[in-house]
Amino acid sequence: SLLLFAVVLLLTAEYLRARRPRSFPPGPWAFPLVGNMFSLDPGNVHGDMTELAEKYGKVYSLKMGPSWTVVLNGLSALQEGLTKGDHLNDRPEFPIHSDVLPDLGIIFSNGHMWKQQRRFALFTLKHFGVGKKSLEFSILDEFMYVSKEITNHKGKPFNPHLLMNNAVSNIICSLVFGHRFEYGNEKFLKMMKLFDKGSQIEASIWAQLYNAFPVLMRRVPGPHHALQKIYREIMDLIQTEVNQHKEDWNPSEPRDFIDCYLSEIQKRRDKSDDDADAGFNEDNLVMCGFDLFGAGSHTTSVTLRWALLYMTKYPEIQEKVQAEIDGVIGRSRQPSMRDCADLPYTDAVIHEVQRMGNVVPLSLPHVTNRDIQLGGYTIPKGVTVIPNLTSVMFDKNEWETPGTFNPGHFLNQEGKFVKRAAFLPFSAGKRLCPGENLARMELFLFFTCFMQRFSFSTPPGVEPVLKARFGVTLSPHPFEICATPHKG
Ligand code: HEM
Repeated sequence: SLLLFAVVLLLTAEYLRARRPRSFPPGPWAFPLVGNMFSLDPGNVHGDMTELAEKYGKVYSLKMGPSWTVVLNGLSALQEGLTKGDHLNDRPEFPIHSDVLPDLGIIFSNGHMWKQQRRFALFTLKHFGVGKKSLEFSILDEFMYVSKEITNHKGKPFNPHLLMNNAVSNIICSLVFGHRFEYGNEKFLKMMKLFDKGSQIEASIWAQLYNAFPVLMRRVPGPHHALQKIYREIMDLIQTEVNQHKEDWNPSEPRDFIDCYLSEIQKRRDKSDDDADAGFNEDNLVMCGFDLFGAGSHTTSVTLRWALLYMTKYPEIQEKVQAEIDGVIGRSRQPSMRDCADLPYTDAVIHEVQRMGNVVPLSLPHVTNRDIQLGGYTIPKGVTVIPNLTSVMFDKNEWETPGTFNPGHFLNQEGKFVKRAAFLPFSAGKRLCPGENLARMELFLFFTCFMQRFSFSTPPGVEPVLKARFGVTLSPHPFEICATPHKG
């Protein structure tokens, strides 16, 4: 009977804990212990979260394991939450990361250090945005290698996954390391494999359970424990590059992010800058490099794959893009960012690929840094907040045909490109993706280069599958395409 009493006591305590705090946003009934964790379809979490807003309103709450989470839906709730004030600038702790990685870098850091590291990364990205060693140059150069690989397939079906990964990872390599790798390079292949493995584990239920029940999961065997080794190996690879840079570093001619960062460390040391909290040291350099790869490669590569897939699905749209490029750029030169304004249809297609591809459907989680008022509710300090980007990018009140691929969403009556406030693939506010400009540049240049040189189609008799796979990002299921020279 003592056991029974203990069980009843435990269940009562858990029942009380599972009750929503007063004046907290409403939401579905939460089960004891697991809350709503298993009520969402693991293959369609963003879709389920968007649907729940119809029932509970634009700001509602869920219990994920033992912790309360608030989900923001629709443009005005996201703007109210993310762009007014600094109460949602922080990231919550993710035990699966914080147990393994140092509390440094940009993505998962907070406060003064986050602000300084983020500002520095933005500044450096801008620095390499123009000029002789510019990222535009690196992208066009990289396309030549991609083009060669595609041509080698001689119109036969191939899976573009690895090639897109290689191409965009090489752009981050150019930015961070100052050079690209041959696709067969051993070190490059190793790094790509490690990032792939890492993101597979991060997308698994093991990682979710770890974040919800860290004390328990630290003791439970499973693939989540492999993450430590994977991340350590990636950090070591980046550290090797840093060591090589130190050997032939010329502060007056910064070649890349590592050189700029080394200068910043020295500048602060020479000025006896005692702002140690800003965190400019070698460990942070490695971690920032890790973050730029982690956030910048997979997202862009997946978007490019979506672009190719949509072009095979809508050959008439592909032809229209090609006709526009033929008319404005022709064949005798490569595209440049300056062409963007003269290619409104192409630009609209890229934007529509990003909207429909919805690659980061729930952005990254934020956390309240004090008690806040949002959507008429009080949300206490320390509550995780999810900006549901899907709810904005597929909102039937914002888009004419939200569920259909329609470049017209970004064109006016005269066929000119128009910006849309509800286009939020990079999120909004102070945590807005700092790689937005680079990503836009990569998407525009790679895509126009593809369309200028090739026509893409599915292998005979194969229908493109547009249903997404939910993981670290929303990505297409593996697919094959055929590429033939664009005749024009
Ligand atoms: C954060 C989207 C490419 C670096 C983010 C966030 C989103 C996003 C939604 C979370 C914002 C938030 O917390 O609310 C994308 C998409 C991309 C892309 C859709 C490509 C199509 C890139 C690239 C880089 C990059 C190319 C770097 C070179 C980062 C970093 C963060 C971030 C460092 C963390 C920012 C912070 O916590 O302050 N990105 N991103 N991203 N992204 Fe991107």
